Amino acid sequence: MKTTQIAVYNHTDIPFLSRAKVEQLWALVSREEGKRAIGRLEITAVDEEDIRRLNDRYFGEQDLTDVIAFPYGVEGSGGMWGEVVICLPQVLRQAGENREDEKKEILTVLTHGFLHLLGYTDQDSRLCRQMETRQNEILKTFLTEEMRRKLITRALRAGKKAYAPYSNFCVGAAIETDKKVVSGCNVENASLGLTVCAERVAVLKAVSENIWSLRRIAVAGSSQSLCIPCGACRQVLFEFAPAIEIIAANNHGRYQVYSLEDLLPHPFVASKEQRRHSTPPYPGSSGE
Ligand code: THU
Repeated sequence: MKTTQIAVYNHTDIPFLSRAKVEQLWALVSREEGKRAIGRLEITAVDEEDIRRLNDRYFGEQDLTDVIAFPYGVEGSGGMWGEVVICLPQVLRQAGENREDEKKEILTVLTHGFLHLLGYTDQDSRLCRQMETRQNEILKTFLTEEMRRKLITRALRAGKKAYAPYSNFCVGAAIETDKKVVSGCNVENASLGLTVCAERVAVLKAVSENIWSLRRIAVAGSSQSLCIPCGACRQVLFEFAPAIEIIAANNHGRYQVYSLEDLLPHPFVASKEQRRHSTPPYPGSSGE
């Protein structure tokens, strides 16, 4: 199987993005558009003067744009051949102040360029909207996938700290929250029944730090099977984050995504009478 070939010729380095990341993005855009990610893709980063010159030469206007895409058609092996030129100073100007914004802006502009290579145009406002919608969808998928992978890596790392002398099954969990990633590992006990799973350690760590917005949790065990939270952990997750996304991974990073609704269709829900007291964050709490 032929893989994507990307030749990166650049006047300036493209920051924050490795060649592998660019390839992943191109593979995703191609897949989403029903095409195979093969071919030759050239990515060039240029300055303002160069992008104006290119716009002048090929489109007759000396515009300062963030990206230009040149689809050259199909190359010998049947793959796509094209070139994407990004104006790095312009892209960075469009981004916010921090590194994440800059990285996201570069990814946005590259996605835009890739879609142009696959036939999208922004000639009128309808096509422009269509392209933008597609671009945002693909970017969201890419960033979600990236976040899931990051969480799995963190879960695998946390699993290395497991205390599991009785089962020898080490588990790590990592939760994406609105503040930071909170991780945990399983902690066993000689009485066996007092063992606490990695997921619950992570959830309790977060809640004990007043972190309540639990968006996603990755769980990875030291085996080739996907590690899916046990019933008790599902019920604890339900208490704090009924809408949490659950990423069950194996020790090599292979994974499957579940919703808590999939895994716990009939949770125990306390009645109003049982739940008489208000819950933190209490009014006036500093969050610490
Ligand atoms: N374990 C977890 O930490 N999470 C799970 O989702 C499944 C099981 C732990 C508990 C115990 O220490 C070991 O794995 C074997 O059951």
